[in-house]
Amino acid sequence: MKESVLHFHGPVLGIETSCDETSAAVLIDGRVASNVVNSQTDLHMKWGGIVPEAAARKHIENMLPVIEEALMRANLSLAEVAAVAVTNRPGLVGALSVGLTCAKGIAWANGLPLIGIHHLEAHALSPMMGGEIGPPYVCLLASGGHTELLYVRGVGEYSVLGRTLDDAAGEAFDKAARSLGLGSPGGPAIQAAAESGNAARYSLPRGLSEPTLDFSFSGLKTAVARTAASVESDADVNDLAASFQETICSVLAERTLLACDVVGSNAVSVAGGVAANISLRSKIKSGAEKKQLMLSIPPIELCTDNAAMIAFVGSIRLARGERSELDLDCVADSPLPGEVSYEPAFE
Ligand code: KG4
Ligand code: ZN
Repeated sequence: MKESVLHFHGPVLGIETSCDETSAAVLIDGRVASNVVNSQTDLHMKWGGIVPEAAARKHIENMLPVIEEALMRANLSLAEVAAVAVTNRPGLVGALSVGLTCAKGIAWANGLPLIGIHHLEAHALSPMMGGEIGPPYVCLLASGGHTELLYVRGVGEYSVLGRTLDDAAGEAFDKAARSLGLGSPGGPAIQAAAESGNAARYSLPRGLSEPTLDFSFSGLKTAVARTAASVESDADVNDLAASFQETICSVLAERTLLACDVVGSNAVSVAGGVAANISLRSKIKSGAEKKQLMLSIPPIELCTDNAAMIAFVGSIRLARGERSELDLDCVADSPLPGEVSYEPAFE
């Protein structure tokens, strides 16, 4: 049975600066009125990875214009905002503190309620934004820093069914792209190269022996790096990108569908930046169809980092009467609120 969620009455301004996207969004009664994302991809590309200090400084530059743009697109003035939701954990502390400080300033100056939001909880609940599914559902949360299989039993009720023992899936995409001399971020670059590649050309390791709901991508990463050292042509690069994408997406999709069997879930979803991957989306979709599961995969702009998902969770938590104080801090690492572990039993 789908749990319906209550939303805060009135416009909620969402703010997200946990990594390299400066984002602001307005949610009105559960509906996304605007979602502005300013990505720093080009800035960090020259260093081959995200430089935390540079990310924080860029957020300082972008934050207010991004908020102004979000208000303008929602056709709203700041005086009409009823509450502020902001990512305060986990993430790069310098980057988080820019959004958090700005959110506090707005809340304090306008006498508005403030709520701090867990970035990964927002990813995990983003499949509910379209209204197709509600708890309980299995969610593959695959981003640049995290890869977990969750059983979302309710808001603030998360069983961790499995997780990566080493690299996150997005990190594996980024490192494979680097080995292949493709751009950054790696996910979209691998996906583009894979389009004209032969996915059956290279046989690559899938990690942990099955059945399991955990992941390990370090062997796959090393195998790509080793093979990449001997590729000779663009066609070889495309084939290796396609073989890598096929391997990692098969593992992610198969384990997600296995998780549904293990907990007896009839609903499945994928969230986080890696959920933008076309191959992963189609594998999960066809698996869900075969098993007759309800499915929700957020649109791509709600998979990668965005403030709409922050405003969404903020709106739900505010409607429950939750509030943060103005001394709210930001935290680099933090478990999901209400997270419990779950030991899957395999025969
Ligand atoms: O959720 P996200 O935007 O930021 C974090 O919270 O980490 O995820 C970023 C990750 C990066 O590693 C990026 O390479 C990956 O998501 N990503 C993709 C795709 N688009 C972004 N991975 C695979 N295929 C894509 N199309
Ligand atoms: Zn994220």
